[in-house]
Amino acid sequence: MPLVEMKDMLQHAYQHGYAVGAFEVVGLDFLEGIMQGAEKARAPIILSLSESHFKCFDYELMMPAVEAAAKRASVPVAIHFDHGTCLDSALKGIKHGCNGVMVDASHLEFSENVEITKEVVTTAHACGVAVEGELGCIPGVEGEGAEFYPGDSAYTSVAEAKVYVERTAVDFLAVSIGTVHGRMKGKPKLDYQRLKQINEALQIPLVIHGGSGLTGDQFHRLISNGVAKINCYTALTEVVTKQIKQNIKAASNSYLGVVSGLSDAVADEVERCMRLWGSAGRAAEVMTRCLTWTSVEHMVIFNVEGMEQERAEVLLAEGLRVISAIPGVRDVFPGKAVQEKAQYKYTWLVRFCHPMVIENYRQHPDYVSFNEKLFRPVAGHSISIDFKAMEPVASQPYIESRVV
Ligand code: 13P
Repeated sequence: MPLVEMKDMLQHAYQHGYAVGAFEVVGLDFLEGIMQGAEKARAPIILSLSESHFKCFDYELMMPAVEAAAKRASVPVAIHFDHGTCLDSALKGIKHGCNGVMVDASHLEFSENVEITKEVVTTAHACGVAVEGELGCIPGVEGEGAEFYPGDSAYTSVAEAKVYVERTAVDFLAVSIGTVHGRMKGKPKLDYQRLKQINEALQIPLVIHGGSGLTGDQFHRLISNGVAKINCYTALTEVVTKQIKQNIKAASNSYLGVVSGLSDAVADEVERCMRLWGSAGRAAEVMTRCLTWTSVEHMVIFNVEGMEQERAEVLLAEGLRVISAIPGVRDVFPGKAVQEKAQYKYTWLVRFCHPMVIENYRQHPDYVSFNEKLFRPVAGHSISIDFKAMEPVASQPYIESRVV
């Protein structure tokens, strides 16, 4: 249930002067640890899945676990698709349950970055999903020594940032002001003056990538200049690697021995960060300010007239292909009545990621074409309903609750 709209979550952080941690999930130890840390700190949290890590784990297999962790949490959670490379990446994020997406076109020319980001924003917003853009270049690779990837930082220009946000309508902006991805040698020189000017010009939540390894004072100055989301991965890998080394030293030669205590190590680091970034203790307040992120089920039950069962099944298969590809559609379940004598023989059960998809789906050219050319001409009477799960009501005996 506490899966909430990411835009509401980050607006709250931005307006109240703290930052939400977006921690990278690369395995179940990380997922469990991040959630434990958030629960202990009573903090809102973002579970972040970076496309660059998908070679290390099966993203489609991981996402049901990520969603389950979010739904059973007692603190507000959002799920973010990090560093996607193109519109298809964003669609993949949305399809599998992310309610915030980042497409990183910051290495391209300004005008190309604007074009790609704009396209992503149009599609994602039509699905109710928030978008993070990036301007300027933050060098380094998450989880690795920054000295091995010595690209120069290209700091975000204030003037360009203003034009970029106006043209793309991104909800949050990742800025380059001196942080790097991965472990940094020496102290980073952060350009607070630039950050302040960007914040004054944009007035939207700002994002820091490369959130590992900064001091408490540096974090405070970032947050007081508009940073509302801090991405963190390398710091988690460090505590996990340390724990694995200790386990091996303790002469553990069993797999479970070597990987024991990893989620606890992650939880402690996550909790430490949240206390530092001011999000600890905010869960209840954030929950009251955020809309719950709810999917919508779209159900159609129908008969086909003058069509043999075999052809009807081909029609359903074509519907499955067309509808599955529409942005914001998470699942399509074509079904056939179990009972021979059922009044209606066929059904579609389609899951939209957000109520906004209902209208966009109906108007989508592929749906319109399928409906007009293939479905309507053969479908007889049909019934359709868009519904969402009801909020749980306090349990009381049904008889007593009846109005007499
Ligand atoms: P670190 O790996 O430096 O913590 O940065 C993570 C990040 O920015 C992910 O987008």
